[in-house]
Amino acid sequence: MRRRILSAVYGTLLAGSALWSGGVSVAQAEPKKDVDPAALFARLGCTLCHAPGARYHDRITKAVGKTEQELARWIRNPEQFVPGTAMPTYASLVDEPTALALAKWIKAGGPSAPSK
Ligand code: HEC
Repeated sequence: MRRRILSAVYGTLLAGSALWSGGVSVAQAEPKKDVDPAALFARLGCTLCHAPGARYHDRITKAVGKTEQELARWIRNPEQFVPGTAMPTYASLVDEPTALALAKWIKAGGPSAPSK
């Protein structure tokens, strides 16, 4: 009897943790749809530093080998990676799905395309 109760408790705990991890993976952000990354790139001032011919264009083109998640994290909090970087922190302006959409576009070579 006691064993049965215990196994019921463990069963519940296991189910709970499965639900929990399931919840986390569901909550993981996807690149936001319905955003125009090129327009956002200009509106947020990224072009000032990263457009072709701008001072840090090569920094962004060199980063295409990173994952969308890594780039999104960078875009929101560059200070976390390079303290004192010239790049502003965008965490309050760009949520994660939007950062992922930008990251996807960056990986596809967006910043090198002629701006509209
Ligand atoms: C004032 C200049 C400036 C602005 C504005 C700016 N960046 Fe940057 N960015 C940098 C610099 C400088 C680096 C390279 C890191 C360093 O050397 O400090 C960089 C690096 C990057 C990288 C490469 C990161 C890596 O892991 O190698 C990405 C991606 C990036 N920026 C995206 C953006 C996006 C998207 C925006 C607009 C939301 C933006 N940047 C706005 C200066 C800027």
